[in-house]
Amino acid sequence: MAILITGGAGFIGSHAAVELLNNGYDIVVIDSLSNSQMESVHRIQELTGKEFPFYEVDLVNKVQADEIFHYHPIEAVMHFAGLKAVGESREIPLKYYNNNITGTLNLCEVMAKHNVKNLVFSSSATVYGNPNSVPVVESFPLTVTNPYGRTKLMIEEILRDLHVSDSSWRIAILRYFNPIGAHESGRIGESPNGIPNNLMPYITQVAIGQREHLQVFGSDYGTHDGTGIRDYIHVVDLVKGHLKALQYLERNEGVEAFNLGTGKGYSVLDLVHNFSEVTSREIPYQVVPRRVGDIGICYANPEKAKNLLGWQAEKGLKEMCQDSWRWQTSNPNGYNIAVKQ
Ligand code: UFG
Repeated sequence: MAILITGGAGFIGSHAAVELLNNGYDIVVIDSLSNSQMESVHRIQELTGKEFPFYEVDLVNKVQADEIFHYHPIEAVMHFAGLKAVGESREIPLKYYNNNITGTLNLCEVMAKHNVKNLVFSSSATVYGNPNSVPVVESFPLTVTNPYGRTKLMIEEILRDLHVSDSSWRIAILRYFNPIGAHESGRIGESPNGIPNNLMPYITQVAIGQREHLQVFGSDYGTHDGTGIRDYIHVVDLVKGHLKALQYLERNEGVEAFNLGTGKGYSVLDLVHNFSEVTSREIPYQVVPRRVGDIGICYANPEKAKNLLGWQAEKGLKEMCQDSWRWQTSNPNGYNIAVKQ
């Protein structure tokens, strides 16, 4: 029996693939390659020394999704596939709704058809909107402010309805805080297309000289230095949480949401300073107005994951900076012109 990884060529999916293979699981990977590269699949194989089936499949195509379940005995699905850029989702909402919602509906339909009812879903802390207080607990009210976030929240609700209709589904909804870092080998990591939206890839591109300076979006938040605070979590810790969730589903029916964060908040400038210290690189920056839609402070209360999954993040900010930097320096252009060594 195998675990199906959707979006397995992407940043988090590729790390999950390595973790699953290293823990003795068989996997099948699908990815539309619309926002990822085949090279990452080669690197997963290189890192683990294991072969696995890969299919270029877009979940919007239900026939193709169905075929995967015909060809392979799947026992559970880790569902990473989806579009994820907040700004872009405001420009092309229909594409986000079609890709994320239709893709997930198709996936659930073919899973039900083949009697595969164990699902680990990638959600996001974005479903908490602008939380009234921190740390954020899973029972907080859910609200979203952009189409990307709305797709995550809608899918959470769809999955709950699915479970109401058929209680044999076992679903873990994992709400990610801010995943950064990379595999310690420097062989897989985040490979953004064009100008990075997120803070860490932007910092590493400034550090390597591809961008002149970082723009710090706002210094008038109610935080110790005025810049926004987030809960940065190492991607390897994050994917270890997925394995724990998978094991939890073996023991428990139902739908359960979990925060995957460290419980610690760092500001934009905290991250910049830690990165500079670890890498001995100056990060020139300019403070500019707040980015539309950004919130001031968001970090997790990760107790539920600790108590029910037996998981907690282990890697600190320095390791996250070191590993992000190793990835950037060994792959200056991500996977784009990567030459296999
Ligand atoms: N920031 C900058 N300059 C940049 C990029 C970001 O100052 O060039 C700041 C932001 O204002 C924010 C912090 O760095 O204070 C982190 O920003 P990111 O874009 O890295 O992450 P966000 O918290 O804004 O968004 C992330 C994910 C979203 C998800 C959201 C909530 O990218 O997908 O967390 O979980 F919806």
